[in-house]
Amino acid sequence: MRIPIMAGNWKMNKTRDKALDFVYEVNREVPDLTDVETAIFAQDVHLRCLVKRQGENLKIGAQNVHYEDSGAFTGETSPIALKELGVHYVLIGHSERRSYYNETDESVNKKLHSALKYKLVPIVCVGEVLEAREQNKTLEVVERQTTKALEGITAEQMPGIVMAYEPVWAIGTGKTATAEMANETCKDIRGVIEKLYSKEIAEKVRIQYGGSVNAKNVKELMGMEHIDGALVGGASLDPTSFIELVNAVKEA
Ligand code: PGA
Repeated sequence: MRIPIMAGNWKMNKTRDKALDFVYEVNREVPDLTDVETAIFAQDVHLRCLVKRQGENLKIGAQNVHYEDSGAFTGETSPIALKELGVHYVLIGHSERRSYYNETDESVNKKLHSALKYKLVPIVCVGEVLEAREQNKTLEVVERQTTKALEGITAEQMPGIVMAYEPVWAIGTGKTATAEMANETCKDIRGVIEKLYSKEIAEKVRIQYGGSVNAKNVKELMGMEHIDGALVGGASLDPTSFIELVNAVKEA
């Protein structure tokens, strides 16, 4: 049994006060949940105060991390600093990082090793652009991204890694993959993990779907066999909407 994770990726949104209000409100609703985990990915500058309000269930994550422990990397954040703050999760290889900030399969792999070294729970994002989908290359792309991301990762480390399938054309566009499409690709990613490790390991790894998830489409997506929660941008900004998403996973 894989426990799904409902995660909000706030991107570069929210003031500190709004962020704190959100966490206060959501924490009241989710403290005793055992059948779904909840996470919020906030801007680095808000992490310190949000971490102080982490609950039993709701945990805080960073949207990026550098792969080196320290050094001359202006503007970057060290995994050690995140760990020291008490941050629980870290997002790695989000498509916005890949397309705007030159994140490559190689840096994703290095960041994953670094996150695991400091016991930050990584959510590794993979997904194809529209052109690849139209050329039937989705499997090829996610297979490459997944395989490269996982280079050098041991079978023991694997169950502690969360994958997120996020088709780039569905992010922030209002276009969601159909539940069948999303499930099919999550199944393919699980197949890649099985090939690299074993069926037993592949069945333990949680794979989220992300891309225009909202209160209307969440139930169908979460009801699918290979989808273990969601990584949500726009619909995670409002606490009522986020709680609705969490409840939908519980019921799925
Ligand atoms: P969206 O973003 O839900 O706004 O499409 C998803 C994401 O970027 O993780």
